[in-house]
Amino acid sequence: MKPLIAGNWKMNGLKASLNEIEALGPAPAACDVLICPPATLIAAMAPAAARFGIATGGQDCHPDPSGAHTGDISAEMLKDAGARFVIVGHSERRADHGESDALVRAKAEAGLRAGLVPIVCVGETEIQRERGEAEAVVGGQLEGSLPKGDGFVIAYEPVWAIGAGRTPTLDDIAAMHAFIRKRTNERIRILYGGSVKPSNAKEILALPDVNGALVGGASLKAADFSAIIAAA
Ligand code: 13P
Repeated sequence: MKPLIAGNWKMNGLKASLNEIEALGPAPAACDVLICPPATLIAAMAPAAARFGIATGGQDCHPDPSGAHTGDISAEMLKDAGARFVIVGHSERRADHGESDALVRAKAEAGLRAGLVPIVCVGETEIQRERGEAEAVVGGQLEGSLPKGDGFVIAYEPVWAIGAGRTPTLDDIAAMHAFIRKRTNERIRILYGGSVKPSNAKEILALPDVNGALVGGASLKAADFSAIIAAA
């Protein structure tokens, strides 16, 4: 399966950040590359990134196609702005905005309806892992938030590894990806996310059932993101 290296810029980036695309250069044929900038940059980034074979995505969407939802953005609007993917259920949204599994599934279904590829995020907290509940938590999130069909991507992002500079052991990542694979099928890409950087990308991406990475902090600098793409 062709790996997907996705950058999640989160709430970072102004117009000047579009220069990072030029610095990245063309995506290699061996892997798909995606950047999910803040919504304000999607329309400007999409054509610039497409010239390099790099896709653009949103970081969230509302379940409805339009309506009285001040401040929200629909999947159709992301598509219209040039997005091809949309992240849904990121742990920062689950935590900051109290998003439930049911809402995440509705957002994923909205992405599919609009012709986007949803990236559905799952992952346990540190306390849940310490209690031995990691698989039960992730299993519940998969059960509750995956849409039907197979036009989506799953991102396993242990909450405690995000922005933390530490990752699970390679064995723990492989075990969780195998667990997720058993609950999906061979056509679904399963990304790992959480402190992926140039120094650990190669060994993580070489694990079975790791079909790419969802990269936060290290996607903001072209040099680091390029090194992760090269590792894939
Ligand atoms: P970091 O790579 O900064 O740990 O963030 C991971 C993430 O949350 C990507 O969605």
